[in-house]
Amino acid sequence: MTTSSTPASQLTLTRPDDWHLHLRDGEALQAVVPHTAAQFARAIVMPNLRPPVTTVQQALAYAQRVRAAVPPGADFEPLMTLYLTDNLDPEEIRRAQANREGGAPAQVVAVKLYPAGATTNSDAGVTDLRKIWPVLEAMQRSGMPLLVHGEVTSPDIDLFDREAAFIDTHLTGLRRDFPDLRIVMEHITTREAAQYVRQAGPNTAATITAHHLLYNRNAIFTGGICPHYYCLPVLKRETHRLALVEAATSGDPHFFLGTDSAPHATHLKEHAQGCAGCYTAHAAIEMYAEAFEAVGALDRLEGFASHHGPDFYRLPRNTGRITLQRQAWQVPGDYAFGQARLTPLRAGQTLPWKLATPV
Ligand code: NCD
Ligand code: ZN
Ligand code: ZN
Repeated sequence: MTTSSTPASQLTLTRPDDWHLHLRDGEALQAVVPHTAAQFARAIVMPNLRPPVTTVQQALAYAQRVRAAVPPGADFEPLMTLYLTDNLDPEEIRRAQANREGGAPAQVVAVKLYPAGATTNSDAGVTDLRKIWPVLEAMQRSGMPLLVHGEVTSPDIDLFDREAAFIDTHLTGLRRDFPDLRIVMEHITTREAAQYVRQAGPNTAATITAHHLLYNRNAIFTGGICPHYYCLPVLKRETHRLALVEAATSGDPHFFLGTDSAPHATHLKEHAQGCAGCYTAHAAIEMYAEAFEAVGALDRLEGFASHHGPDFYRLPRNTGRITLQRQAWQVPGDYAFGQARLTPLRAGQTLPWKLATPV
């Protein structure tokens, strides 16, 4: 007779990093930076501000504003990115690299490609990959990763097919033309993307969000339209969720944690044209733990959350640790967000895991 083993009451991990995060700017920083800094040692900070962060100088100034919002005693380092436009000067890649040298910690570590019009604040994005050839060449030479929002924007491609179409229309060609370019396909949402990354070799990786591991597209429509589950790329069918869970828990080092936590004021989510983005920074590692535990893979969480990301980015792994406790707690209904409110994913719901506050 077998006895079922008692579920673990706590889980200790190397301190994780978030390899895809939106922090916004101004007073929004006070609301969201403390959530991320409580969980993660570092985060790749997305550059889709208005106006976008397109120069090293702007990225460094933004990093200062982010650091100023880190609560006293918290240990958190923002890793900055540049927003790729049709006009980005390849010289900026050199400047970013120069900024890495001399023993100082890396500050601008990657460049983000948004196809024009694909998502929130992406109108300054790239209209044609051929226009950015010299930048991609400079990045390939320097080893700086290109982070990709992988969706085509053509209105005749169904919204649910845009990620798979991007792989065929753009990514395979990019991979062929720049074999040594390091590429991260951000926030993958489909079986096609997971399969692509798995066989694309050592220079291609992907981030996966907690919400795409926990939910399929039914979540957007259950009991009425639920705008807090709307993000881009949009949640997909259950078969895709299962493929993402399989990839994240497989131990394959090309998949790692990126929350894509993307705060928008509650009134702009609950709107006739609601903004895309799920806010998950308040309970990110707890939600990943829930997703991994659901398939009996808690032992794979540390690799995904704390090892694979720094290894791909060629940065040291963190030395600190965090502890999660099996302790049910209720997510607040909302948080302050400047003059507005911010509704987190799972607002008002009970989560099974809780991050222990360091003593
Ligand atoms: C992000 C945002 O709000 O900045 N939204 C989202 O739905 N994921 C942009 C992005 O990552 O595409
Ligand atoms: Zn995106
Ligand atoms: Zn994002």
